[in-house]
Amino acid sequence: MPALSIVVPTFKEVGNILELHRRVAACCGGIAWELIFVDDDSPDGTAAQVCALANSDPRVRIVHRIGRRGLTSACLEGIMSSSAPIVAVMDADLQHDETLLTRMYNTLIEQADLDIVVGSRYVEQGGIGEWDASRAKISRIATRLGSFVLKADLKDPMSGFFMIKRDVAIQCMRSGMSGIGFKILLDFFASSSTPLRFKELPFEFKTRFSGDSKLDTTVAWEYLITLLNHFMGGVIPVRFIAFTLVGGLGVAVHLAVFAFFFKAMASTFMLSQVIATLVAMTSNFLLNNVFTYRDMRLRGSGLLMGWLSFAAACSVGAIANVGLSQWLYGQKPNYWLVSVFAGILVGAVWNYAVTSVYTWKKTKGS
Ligand code: GDD
Ligand code: MN
Repeated sequence: MPALSIVVPTFKEVGNILELHRRVAACCGGIAWELIFVDDDSPDGTAAQVCALANSDPRVRIVHRIGRRGLTSACLEGIMSSSAPIVAVMDADLQHDETLLTRMYNTLIEQADLDIVVGSRYVEQGGIGEWDASRAKISRIATRLGSFVLKADLKDPMSGFFMIKRDVAIQCMRSGMSGIGFKILLDFFASSSTPLRFKELPFEFKTRFSGDSKLDTTVAWEYLITLLNHFMGGVIPVRFIAFTLVGGLGVAVHLAVFAFFFKAMASTFMLSQVIATLVAMTSNFLLNNVFTYRDMRLRGSGLLMGWLSFAAACSVGAIANVGLSQWLYGQKPNYWLVSVFAGILVGAVWNYAVTSVYTWKKTKGS
């Protein structure tokens, strides 16, 4: 029976699997561990590599996810799939110091009142390794933003390296984790119904062994959404917030395109409006596809069908918007701004509700 499950999210990490396994086996001799890789169907054959390894070492398991993406959700599924009382989360690329695992484990066992032990770059003797100045700065800003929603004085809430008691993790998941993005630790701390009792242990962030980082600009966006979700107390769905932000941008796009055709090109009002509407709707669709529904992104022919259903839904939303605002305006002409906003709100809720079901359908099994 494993006493410790080490959950490793993977996306395109084929070159790191064997080395990670070798190092864990070398340094965790005293613990009954298991290694759970949660792979999002990486195109580089990571899953096949894990399966081959699992066939030679029964301590290795795979959770193979298809049609889904996301670091946090992958870790959560890995944790849920384990029966060990203690679970570690660590990256596959060997940037996290595997030799800390034993110390983390012993700390959790010896100090029974702890819920979680965090591998920290920002406590004494920890470090960020060979990061360049800009990445170090971004990390510092993100850490500061995160401390707003934190219920604890954690020095490194961005760390992706920690060990938690399984029942504590499950309790956090029940209390409404956002489950989106890269910042799983922050998500745990912000979701827990009681403040998590934690300890930070220092480690030095290493350079990647093989492959490339998956951290890109959409990660920053997802981070913002996670924070917003916690600020809102989880009342408004995260995706709706993202959808609304994209919609807000769409208004700016609409205005800019309209102004261009109406003023600069001297097109008719009607033609300018039609073009602006089409462009804004298309840019909203593409942005939502990349940001709001990143984990269910449509591609290829799905993109065309998605655009059609998005356009159909939004046309009805626009009719509801204009219809309602017109009616309200008729009731109380002095409150025209309220009428306009009520129309926008109803249109947005309609568009969100319909497209979340018909445009970005959940694929089977997710
Ligand atoms: N299953 C799955 N799905 N795994 C993923 C996904 C995904 O969509 N995206 C990334 N991963 C895996 C990677 O394969 C890797 O094992 C781990 O998550 C971390 O990804 P990296 O791409 O190596 O991230 P990083 O090194 O830039 O960021 C790390 O450091 C940050 C600290 O600044 C991560 O540990 C972050 O969690 C951490 O905040
Ligand atoms: Mn990494």
